[in-house]
Amino acid sequence: MANAEVMCDIGFIGLGVMGKNLTLNLADNGYQIACFDLDQRKIDDLLSQDQAERGAKAPRVIPCDSFSHILKQTSSPRLIILSIPAGKPVVQVCDQLIEAGIEPNDIVVDTGNSLWTDSIAREAHYRGKFIFFSTAISGGEVGARFGPSLMPSGDRQAWERIEPVWHAVAAKVDAKSGKPIETFTAGEPVLEGESCSTYIGPIGSGHYVKMVHNGIEYADMQLICEAYQIMRQALHMSPAEIAVIFRQWNKGELNSYLIEISAEVLDEIDAETGLPIVDVIMDKAGQKGTGLWTAVAALQVGSPAQTIAQAVFARSLSSLKKERVVASRILSGPTPAILSDQQKELAIDALHDALYCSKICAYAQGFQLMQMASIEQKWQLDFAEIAKIWRAGCIIRAAFLQPITSAYQQDQQLANLLLNPFFSDKINRYQDNWRQAIARATLDGIPLPAMSSALNYYDSYRAETSAASLLQGQRDFFGAHTFERVDRPEGEKYHIEWSLPGRPQAKI
Ligand code: 6PG
Repeated sequence: MANAEVMCDIGFIGLGVMGKNLTLNLADNGYQIACFDLDQRKIDDLLSQDQAERGAKAPRVIPCDSFSHILKQTSSPRLIILSIPAGKPVVQVCDQLIEAGIEPNDIVVDTGNSLWTDSIAREAHYRGKFIFFSTAISGGEVGARFGPSLMPSGDRQAWERIEPVWHAVAAKVDAKSGKPIETFTAGEPVLEGESCSTYIGPIGSGHYVKMVHNGIEYADMQLICEAYQIMRQALHMSPAEIAVIFRQWNKGELNSYLIEISAEVLDEIDAETGLPIVDVIMDKAGQKGTGLWTAVAALQVGSPAQTIAQAVFARSLSSLKKERVVASRILSGPTPAILSDQQKELAIDALHDALYCSKICAYAQGFQLMQMASIEQKWQLDFAEIAKIWRAGCIIRAAFLQPITSAYQQDQQLANLLLNPFFSDKINRYQDNWRQAIARATLDGIPLPAMSSALNYYDSYRAETSAASLLQGQRDFFGAHTFERVDRPEGEKYHIEWSLPGRPQAKI
């Protein structure tokens, strides 16, 4: 039963992996939380962890056994945080809160990986009943527990009430160095530093930015996997040897959470077989859909986020495991050349540069997509602030986010990260190795869907002229779709009567 005498600062619904850990993080930061989950075991699990960490005398987590109890237990105007699966469950819980008596000035914060258009619809749908606000969260279980990156969006006045809460629980970064200030000790939250939480904009914009974060995450993960595959298949290195290289790279400009955990995975030995766990894990990639949403959003707004899309396709192709096994016996390919130790060393150095350049392109595509969406939706996104809150707490956190932050601080109107001197200089210096690494892998028959698409993005973006002139001719030939001329004002349309003698051309 609820502990009736204690009124709580926050109501929290949904005590799964993210919800439980975010609640404990809130408790660490001094909040009293009324919590509820349909699964009593989750409430019990949270209670026992709260008491283990804080002692039974000073619990900060008060269990409730229904929606109306949690409303009774939370001081008004209420702040109710939801951590539940995206989609229908969010609407079901919101509707049940209305039935339980939630009030118009109460705020409900959806912290799931919701589709941004759903968040926009929900704010409108519940207007007048309660304030629907959203905060996309990145950082997984550990992030939720000790400091996630938070992307809140919605009503500005609601934000003023939520801001101190998110400032407290978010990951922190040292203001001078831009490096994460991390803690992994229960009860000892980081109090100083810049918080990885910033108001993104109107409802929907926060979940859009998180969606793009996940699209970049897909690309980043795929690029690391491609570097691994080259070292494994072409350089004949063991998982443990590749882990050593990743740890070396993690000390330099490729420093990132994803590189760090990749080394951990590659070093892990399966207790049952004694084999590297990476050789025991089935090579079929799962996906909950946020990368797919990003690729679809890019296609819809006309943003060339091709490396992100390729990362989604790579997961889809990997899931065709049975077909790949059959195809491997029918479709031939080259055998990777054997390299000398010195050649191997040069190949690894080239791979470092190829990974770095490809990352630049993947992030450039993500920010380009957000720019196009910001214009279309009139959100006025602040890209320096977005890069800042991605420096810690989130899955794509990396040293790399600091120069991205600086790039947008120097020029908020930067058309593309590739045009920032820091990054264009890097690519100018690294691109020979980038091209070498891709060419060699291609000749060795190693698939690089993300890395090669990143190079194609770079070469396409820097091309003053392109083959689209022939493509426009093709379209005009078969479909009379017209074309513009390079020597006429933009917007003037022309068509050739291809089937008539002399093929007369006319301005339409
Ligand atoms: C994060 C992660 C997380 C992601 C899940 C599942 O930022 O904490 O991006 O939100 O959705 O890890 O990701 P998949 O789409 O790969 O299943």
